[in-house]
Amino acid sequence: MIAIRTHGLTKRFGKLTAVDHLDLVIEQGTLYGLIGPNGAGKTTTLRLLAGLLEPSEGEIYLDGQRVRDAQQASRVIGYMPDFFGVYEDMMVWEYLDFFARCYHIPAAQRQQIVDELLALVDLTEKRDAYVQTLSRGMRQRLCLAHALVHDPQILLLDEPASGLDPRARVEMRELLRELRAMGKTIVVSSHILSELAEMCDAVGIIEQGRLLVSAPLQEVYRQVKQDRTLRLRVLSDQERAIALMRNYPGIGEVYAANGDHIEANFVGDDAATAALLTHLTAQGVAVVSFGETANDLEDVFLRITQGIVS
Ligand SMILES: Nc1ncnc2c1ncn2[C@@H]1O[C@H](COP(=O)(O)OP(=O)(O)OP(=O)(O)O)[C@@H](O)[C@H]1O
Ligand SMILES: [Mg+2]
Repeated sequence: MIAIRTHGLTKRFGKLTAVDHLDLVIEQGTLYGLIGPNGAGKTTTLRLLAGLLEPSEGEIYLDGQRVRDAQQASRVIGYMPDFFGVYEDMMVWEYLDFFARCYHIPAAQRQQIVDELLALVDLTEKRDAYVQTLSRGMRQRLCLAHALVHDPQILLLDEPASGLDPRARVEMRELLRELRAMGKTIVVSSHILSELAEMCDAVGIIEQGRLLVSAPLQEVYRQVKQDRTLRLRVLSDQERAIALMRNYPGIGEVYAANGDHIEANFVGDDAATAALLTHLTAQGVAVVSFGETANDLEDVFLRITQGIVS
């Protein structure tokens, strides 16, 4: 089932088109990463989906239903903004209780919900602390708890890991995985691709309001990764191996690296890579190790976005 679908979703601010004919399809139960540089339109997209901004053009469907007003969206969506609100003279439990009231949750249920949420985001001990005394990471988790007050099926989280230290990031990731395990559909935005790499099922890369790629993570890798860096080590006669490789189709630069290793840029898919190894072996080169250096996601990101800009 499709949790979020947009059709030609567009938002203009005067002359600027912040979101440009976005066609998003996000399956239910997916952890989806919306990635793009500053100003790409991530926040605007999330605010449109949350019903906080009116589209200039296009349609939004949540759980198959065309969204026609903000109230309809707010029932199924929990939104965590990138900046913390200003309800700082409240205690942590009051803060959540306040929002539970906004959703007309009866008093008897509210206390239970607040306690459960505090346990989920690991803030039980801070129940009676003032919000302003919380650290950044704790505030971020409180914000997440706020987005969960009405138990929405869809969560939109704008840069949930920004400003967090490495440990807090790991904790945030675990929390998101936990929420996914509960069956929720989660969209997280980030401008740091690697931050999302291990945790997302699918990613969309957005730049200048346009969705450049939207696919399962592995597919994104594959789409961009025809250009690879191979690294190998041969038993002897490295010079000859290098010469053989230089004459092989698809091979770009070849150089000796890390002492006894050879590195080469190669444009080719898995089959072509396998054929190259067969060729070297057939030519009598004793290959000790042969592999691909990990192109990290940051590389992939840069490559995709540069392709559009230039
Ligand atoms: N209310 C607004 N009025 C005018 N322009 C706006 C408004 N909100 C956003 N924009 C513009 O729309 C573009 C996209 O902004 P948006 O905040 O969606 O980017 P972003 O991808 O979230 O960036 P960041 O990584 O910096 O958070 C920017 O050029 C921004 O200046
Ligand atoms: Mg933003």
